[in-house]
Amino acid sequence: MHTAFRPSTNIMLYKVIIYNALLTIYSWPAQGEPGKCRDGITKNVAPHQLLRQDLFCSYDKESRPVRDFHKNITIEIRLNVLLFFLDEYKNVLDLHTWLGISWIDEGLNWNSADYSNVDVLHVKSYDIWQPDLSVYNSGNLETNGGWDFTHCTINSTGEVFCIPNVKWSTQCTANLQQWPFDKHICNMTIGSWTHTGEQMNINHDEGIGLKYFTSNPEWELLNSSATKKVSTYDCCPNATYQSIIFSFHIKRHADAYAATVVMPSL
Ligand SMILES: *[C@@H]1O[C@H](CO)[C@@H](O)[C@H](O)[C@H]1NC(C)=O
Ligand SMILES: *[C@@H]1O[C@H](CO)[C@@H](O)[C@H](O)[C@H]1NC(C)=O
Ligand SMILES: *[C@@H]1O[C@H](CO)[C@@H](O)[C@H](O)[C@H]1NC(C)=O
Ligand SMILES: *[C@@H]1O[C@H](CO)[C@@H](O)[C@H](O)[C@H]1NC(C)=O
Ligand SMILES: *[C@@H]1O[C@H](CO)[C@@H](O)[C@H](O)[C@H]1NC(C)=O
Repeated sequence: MHTAFRPSTNIMLYKVIIYNALLTIYSWPAQGEPGKCRDGITKNVAPHQLLRQDLFCSYDKESRPVRDFHKNITIEIRLNVLLFFLDEYKNVLDLHTWLGISWIDEGLNWNSADYSNVDVLHVKSYDIWQPDLSVYNSGNLETNGGWDFTHCTINSTGEVFCIPNVKWSTQCTANLQQWPFDKHICNMTIGSWTHTGEQMNINHDEGIGLKYFTSNPEWELLNSSATKKVSTYDCCPNATYQSIIFSFHIKRHADAYAATVVMPSL
C-alpha cells in the first residue's frame, strides 16, 4: 500500500481524493430514496412511515451490510454488568448484562431532509442484520449464547445502536483451596461465530460499564477488564480471528464464614 504511493505521491493522492469524491457523489446514493419502491404512487402516510417503506422494501437482513464485500464491518461492544453469580460447584459464572452494541449498516442510511427531518428510526432487532456474537466458553449450551430480541435505533448515517438484556453463562473453574478466602478470575470470551476479523472487526469501546452494577452478598467484584485478542491459525494464514475477553476478578465475602466456620475450629 505505502510503497505504491511512493513514486508520485502527490498525483496519486489527488487521484484518490477525486475518485473518493466521485464515488460518494455518484455511486453511493442514500438507501432511503423517496418513492424508491412505490412506482410513483404517493401514499398518504407520515414521513417516518414512508422512510421505513423506502429503507426496507429491498433490504436484505441476511447479508453483512457493507457495500464492498472485502471490507470489514466494525462492531463496538460495551458490557454493562448488572449482576453476577458464581456457582462454584457447577463452575459456571452467570452475568446479567445490558450489552451496548453498535455498528454502521451501509444499507440503512438516508437524507433526513427528504423525510421532514426524521433522523432516527426505531426498529426491532430481528428486522435488521445483526452480528453473530457468541460466548466461546459458554457454561450453558442449551442457550444460543446470544440474545433473542431487543429494540434498536438507527440514525440517518446508518448507525445502529442496540442494548439487549443478555444473561451470559460462562465456564469458570473455581479453586476452593483457600475457602472461604478464595478469589477467582473468571473470563468470558465473546466473538463472531462464523466471521473472520477481516469480515467483522470487533472493538470493546469503553470495555465494561459498572454504572448499573448491584453488588452481591456472596461475592465482591475486585476488578474487571476487557481485552481484544487477535489470533491466527496454521490453516488460514490470511485470516485473523478476533475475540474480546472480559475478565472478572472476584473474591468471596469471607466475614460471615470466617466467624461461623473458621473461628470455632481454631
Ligand atoms: C448517530 O448515532 C450515534 C450514536 O447513537 C451518534 O453518536 C451520532 O452522532 C449520530 N449521528 C447523527 C448524524 O445523528
Ligand atoms: C483471563 O484473561 C486475562 C486477561 O485477558 C488473561 O491474562 C488470563 O490468562 C485469562 N485466564 C484464563 C484462565 O483464560
Ligand atoms: C477494518 O476496516 C478498517 C477500515 O477500513 C481498517 O482500518 C482495519 O484495518 C480493518 N481491520 C481488519 C482486521 O481488517
Ligand atoms: C485489575 O486492575 C489492574 C490495574 O488496573 C490491572 O492491571 C489488572 O489486569 C486487572 N485485573 C483483572 C483481572 O482485570
Ligand atoms: C495469503 O495471501 C498471500 C498474499 O496475498 C497469497 O500469496 C497466499 O496465497 C494467501 N494464502 C492463502 C492460504 O490464501
